[in-house]
Amino acid sequence: MAKLFQAGELHHGLGSLAELKNIKGKKAIIVIGGKSVKENGVLARVETILDEANIEHTVFSGVEPDPSIITVRKGAKAFEEFNPDWIIGLGGCSAIDAAKAMWAIYEHPTLTFDQMIKVAGIPPLRNKARFVAIPSTSGTGTEITALAVITDTEKGVKYPLVSHELLPDLSIVDGELCETMPKNVTANTGIDALTHCVEAYVSNIDDNYADALSKGGIELVFKNLETAYNNPSDLTARQNMHDASCLGGFAFTNVWLGIVHSLAHQIGGVFGVPHGCANAIALPNVIRFNATATDKYQDLARLVGKNTAEEFAAEIETLRANVNVPASLKEYGISEQDWKKNVKEMAQHAIADPCTSFNPRVLDVVEMEKILNACYYGEKVNF
Ligand SMILES: NC(=O)c1ccc[n+]([C@@H]2O[C@H](COP(=O)([O-])OP(=O)(O)OC[C@H]3O[C@@H](n4cnc5c(N)ncnc54)[C@H](O)[C@@H]3O)[C@@H](O)[C@H]2O)c1
Ligand SMILES: [Zn+2]
Repeated sequence: MAKLFQAGELHHGLGSLAELKNIKGKKAIIVIGGKSVKENGVLARVETILDEANIEHTVFSGVEPDPSIITVRKGAKAFEEFNPDWIIGLGGCSAIDAAKAMWAIYEHPTLTFDQMIKVAGIPPLRNKARFVAIPSTSGTGTEITALAVITDTEKGVKYPLVSHELLPDLSIVDGELCETMPKNVTANTGIDALTHCVEAYVSNIDDNYADALSKGGIELVFKNLETAYNNPSDLTARQNMHDASCLGGFAFTNVWLGIVHSLAHQIGGVFGVPHGCANAIALPNVIRFNATATDKYQDLARLVGKNTAEEFAAEIETLRANVNVPASLKEYGISEQDWKKNVKEMAQHAIADPCTSFNPRVLDVVEMEKILNACYYGEKVNF
């Protein structure tokens, strides 16, 4: 038996931001990152909708990419002072994830970060506020995931907070918000969406529903990512990528991810490599490694007119090159000295990452280190 987890209500399609008008309440705090939603007019549109709905509002801004615990605590304090009954995470996934974690502390002020990072470590929410997610990147699917990724900057470790409490009450998937996404963010986040679909499809939890969502997302990425990258104003491609991201999030929040994410959490936490870029570098090699343990990659190869896991990995490498994402961590710019200093510890942390337990092939720390090194030097994994 299985239960399919989903957001409370989800609107998708060009112009669906207007559906925000239906929320009922008194006070909303809007959590944003830097300048992008101010500059592209999206924040002003959200504020106008809230004015029309007679909801008092304020903004918490300044959430950095890969948000830190420090920012989360700052935001929770602002929530306490404003006392909202709606929280609106608006922008890239970093802003939305930080808002989710702030929400948990706002509801439970004594909650520590150590408690939050335990599986299901977040007590019931919604006693003070409900949550709206409005993404402006097409990658993580956070609008539909039971997850928030927060970085402990002192340790250089990214922690996934995992709890179905974190599923938004309202999600708005409007591709218009993505038009201003820079090319490199479009490329990285698009391959993140692809990675979610691929890892969910081969997860060791078998689920027909998640499989269908994953396959749908993969087809959309292969058909639309290059168009969205080359022609940022193609709103059809933008919406299709936004839908792909949401389908991937929908799939993985039910069957979880694998070691591409275990590796990316380390590569991002230690070297600051953008999440999607780290995934893009690791995904083909993880497919090669996992292919001895599952024949499910062959199904995915057929979606793109190929037959084997190796051909599927190669198709992803071609897509990656076409959207100008580096093929190795060395090419990304990490020095060999820094790499060698960190790789062993990264392999240990990657083994301990919760995603590792859902990977189709069981592995040890030595194998994890070998995969990491292959990704650093841009070599093909063959063991
Ligand atoms: N919650 C989840 O389910 C989940 C899943 C996977 C990864 N993550 C985490 O999500 C984070 C990455 O989020 P992301 O990939 O969305 O990137 P991001 O939120 O960090 O944004 C990247 C950059 O793009 C800018 N930006 C965003 N939207 C824009 C737009 N429309 N126009 C112009 N600029 C825009 C941001 O201001 C930022 O500078 C990482 O911390 C990653 O670990 C979360
Ligand atoms: Zn991801």
